[in-house]
Amino acid sequence: MTRFDPSFLWGAATSGYQIEGAVTEDGRTPSIWDTFSATPGKILGGDTGAVAADHYHRYPEDIALMSQLGLRAYRFSLAWPRIQPDGRGPANPKGLDFYRRLTDTLLEHGIQPWPTLYHWDLPQPLEDKGGWPARDTAERFAEYASLAYEALGDRIPAWTTLNEPWCSAFLGYATGRHAPGRREPAAAVRAAHHLLLGHGLAAEAMPDARVGITLNLTHVTPRSNDPADLDAARRIDGMQNRLFLDPLLRAAYPEDVLDDLGDITGTDHIRPGDLKTIAAPLDFLGINYYAPMLVAHSTEPTPSAYVGSPFVDIADGGRPKTAMGWEIDEHGLHDLLLRLRADYPEVPLYVTENGAAFDEAIHDTARIAYLDGHLRACARAITQGVPLKGYFVWSLLDNFEWSYGYSQRFGIVHVDYPTQRRTPKDSARWYAAVIERGGL
Ligand code: FCB
Repeated sequence: MTRFDPSFLWGAATSGYQIEGAVTEDGRTPSIWDTFSATPGKILGGDTGAVAADHYHRYPEDIALMSQLGLRAYRFSLAWPRIQPDGRGPANPKGLDFYRRLTDTLLEHGIQPWPTLYHWDLPQPLEDKGGWPARDTAERFAEYASLAYEALGDRIPAWTTLNEPWCSAFLGYATGRHAPGRREPAAAVRAAHHLLLGHGLAAEAMPDARVGITLNLTHVTPRSNDPADLDAARRIDGMQNRLFLDPLLRAAYPEDVLDDLGDITGTDHIRPGDLKTIAAPLDFLGINYYAPMLVAHSTEPTPSAYVGSPFVDIADGGRPKTAMGWEIDEHGLHDLLLRLRADYPEVPLYVTENGAAFDEAIHDTARIAYLDGHLRACARAITQGVPLKGYFVWSLLDNFEWSYGYSQRFGIVHVDYPTQRRTPKDSARWYAAVIERGGL
C-alpha cells in the first residue's frame, strides 16, 4: 500500500462563483464574471453562475456530505462582491455572515476551512475603474483582505490570497477568454504585477495569519533539442511558472521573461519596493496542476495567452485526454514537484487543485484512474523529499466551468442542475476510502 503521513491534509476544492448562485442576494453586487457571462457569446450555451449549484442555500447539506466523505479540509473562495459590494469601503455584514455560518458549520464537522480571497470575481465597480491593470486594485484587494481577516481570522487555519493569477491576468486581459474579456497584452502584463502586489499587500494586512497563494503551474517539455524548440519551452516556462514563482520566492522577476515582454509594456509599472512586498515569506505554496505542456517553435505567429512569444506552438503529446481535451500525465505533476524543490527555497506545498472532467455520470472510472495516478505521483515526490503536505481534489461538486458553462463536470459529486440533487460518484466513495486508509 502507498501510505501518506497521518498529518497529510485530505481535501476538496470549489470556488464561489462556480457553486454559490444567489448572485443578487443579501447585498451582493455584480462581479466581472456576472457581467461577462451576461454578454452574449462569451459562455458556452449562454450559461451563467446565477444559480450554479445553489450552494449559498444548500451549504449545510454540502457540508454534511463532506463530513460523510471524511474530508479533513475544504477549500472554497470568498466572494469579494458579497463582502465589499463596491470594492471599497465598509464590509457588508450579511456577506460576512454567510461565510461565518459556512466556516462555523465546517468547524462543527471537524473540517478545516481553507478560504481563498480571490478566485476571479472582481467587483465590477473596480473593473470600471481599470481592473487589475490599475495599481489601485492591488490596494483595494488588501483592504478587502483586512475586512475578511478581521471577521473570520480567529477561525481560519490557512488563507490563500489569489487563485491562479496567471489566468486572471492573461486569460482575463490578453486572450479575453475569461472575464473581463479584454484583449490588451500590455494591460495583461501590468495586471500580473498588480495581482502579485495585491498578494503581498494582503499578506501584510493579515499580520498573524498563515498565508499562501495558489499558482497554476505546469511541467514544460520542449518537443526536441532543436534550439528553437528549447527557446519556445523556455518562454512558456517563463510565462507560466517563473513569472510568478521568482518574484514570490526569490524577490526578482526572471530577466529573460522581462526581455521577452520588454516591447510590450516595459517595466515602469514595477515600483521600488514592490518586489520586497511580493516576496514576504510564504507560509505555503498552493499548486493547481492538471496537465503538462509539450512546446515547440512555430514558424507562423499564433495569438495566445503567452504575450511576447507568438512563435510558439503547444503541441499534442499524444496521450489520452480528459473531456476538456487536457492530456493526462501524472509524471508532469511529479516532475513539477521535484523541480520546485530543486529550484526554489523550501516552502510547504499543497496541491490545491487536481482533477478531471469526464462525461461519465456516476460510474466515473476514468476519474478514479486519473486521481489514483496523480496521488501516486504525489507519494513518489514525497518519498524523494518534496515537502508536500496535502491534496485537494477539484472539485467537490459539478459546477460552472467558466467559459465552458455547465458542459464540463469536474465533481466527485454529481449535481443534477434542474433538481439540485447531489449524488456521490464512484470517485467520491473511492476518495473517502483513500482518506480513511490514509493511502492507496
Ligand atoms: C482551474 C480553476 C478552477 C477550475 C479548474 C478546472 O484553473 O482554478 O476554478 O475551473 O481550473
